[in-house]
Parts: sequence; C-alpha cells; structure tokens
Amino acid sequence: MEVFHHRREINQHITSLKKEGKAIGFVPTMGALHDGHISLVHASKQQNDITVVSIFVNPTQFNNKEDLAKYPRTLQTDLPLLEKEGCDMVFVPDEKEMYPEPDLRVFSFGNLDKVMEGKYRPGHFNGIAQVVTKLIDIISPHRAYFGFKDFQQLIVIKKLIDDCQYPVEIVSCPIVREADGLAMSSRNIRLSPEERKHAALIPKTLLRAKQTGTSVSPARLKKAVTDTINKDPHLQVEYFEIVDDKTLQPVNSWDQTGVKVGCIAVYAGNVRLIDNITFNS
Ligand code: PAF
Repeated sequence: MEVFHHRREINQHITSLKKEGKAIGFVPTMGALHDGHISLVHASKQQNDITVVSIFVNPTQFNNKEDLAKYPRTLQTDLPLLEKEGCDMVFVPDEKEMYPEPDLRVFSFGNLDKVMEGKYRPGHFNGIAQVVTKLIDIISPHRAYFGFKDFQQLIVIKKLIDDCQYPVEIVSCPIVREADGLAMSSRNIRLSPEERKHAALIPKTLLRAKQTGTSVSPARLKKAVTDTINKDPHLQVEYFEIVDDKTLQPVNSWDQTGVKVGCIAVYAGNVRLIDNITFNS
C-alpha cells in the first residue's frame, strides 16, 4: 500500500494506472476508520482494480470549532487497518495541500440543504462540496463510495456530481451497525460507557417506528420517536424528519409517492449522532 501526501504525486500515479486501463475506486474519509468505512473499501475492491482511500479531516465542513478540534484522529491505527484490508493507495494531505488558498466557492443545492443537517449545521454541505470536488479532481476515480448513514450527504453529493458533470459513478453502501444496533460512526469512540449504552435506544426506536409504519400519521410518528428518545436523560433529539428520498422534503402523508426515509440527529452528552431508517412503501 502506498501512502501519498501530495496531490500532484498521487494524481500522476493514478493517471498512469488509468492509461493502463485500470478501474479506480475511491473511498473518501475523515479517518478514525471503523467497519462502516471498511465495507466501502470492500465494495470498491470488488468493483475496481485499484482502491484509493483519502483521510482528511476537512475543516470547511465543520460549523463548530470544538467539534472540529474533538474529531478523532487515529492515523496510526487507520493505515495498518487499510493495509490489512488490501487498500492500494492512501491519500493523506494536510490542510495546506488541500487549501493553499481559502476556498471561496459557493455551491447551490436547491432545497436539498435547507433541511436537517443543512439547517442545523450551516455551511456544512458547502464545505463538503468544496472538499469532495477537490478530491474528485485529484483522484479522478471511476467510482466513489459513500455510506447510507450520511443519507443527506449522499443525496447532496449525487446532485453535486451531476451538476459538475463528473464522469464518476456514486455507489452507496448500507449502514453498518454494532451488535446492539448503533450505527457505526467515528464519533462513537467519544461516547462515555454510559452514553454508549443509552445510544442504542436510537436505532431501537427507529426500528419500532418502521414496524409501526403507516398505521399512524407521519406527524404522530415523529412525535412518538422524539418523545421516546427525549425521555432518556442521556439523549436529546435535535431533529427527526420523515422525508422523501429524492427531494429530502418532509412528507405529511404516507400517501405521497416515493420512498420515505426517517432521519434523526441526537445528542448523547455532547456527541452528535445521526442515523436513519427507510420505511416500507
Ligand atoms: O463522510 C465523510 O467522512 C466526509 O463528509 C467526507 C465525504 C469524507 C468529506 O470530508
């Protein structure tokens, strides 16, 4: 496995591999790798000749300085893990390499970023678009892999790739969960043992909501989910929305066409967790 720190070097290397006809799969990450990331690496390895992973904690997508400072950084364990899983190349740039100048670009996603993460984390998706476009320009992969846990990110990135007309296929991979159902996340290691135990109520409640399904209105289901989680003194719901999987706009009735996804953000102490569940149509 080769580790690159400079964009020009990895770009030249990949350009020559592409000339040999190799298919390039790309898994962008912010490190602190877990089995969710590894499932993306496995999917890429199955579909491509070469798998490239990037590890970069992107400052422009954090609207909260403390969250950025506390974001876990575990490069010493990330690199051996990627080597063991058969990753071919890792790109580990520093901030100057990615942002030699401040990035002043402003992206537009219509209504996709006016709700949920976009509403509660202003500028978050603009920062993601800044870093993802830079990474796609550097790596120029045939396919890029994203987890379904960050559902809104996935939809926004699909639009970004379409709008920019990048010849890249976006592949989404299912959420990977711990034994008690908690969605794997780099942030989970910041939970205290007590918070970690209580966080399992989030997927449990989502699953119960899916089972309840259309027997109650979306509004009542929203309230039931929020109340159940907020009753736990370790947890505080920031939002729970039931949205259309294409427009991300909240649905008022189960009769509306299209697939519905329940998306949630919850604070466990000061750790912010997100998760989602797809309802049967
Ligand atoms: O999902 C993530 O880890 C990040 O948002 C991404 C896509 C690597 C951009 O920094």
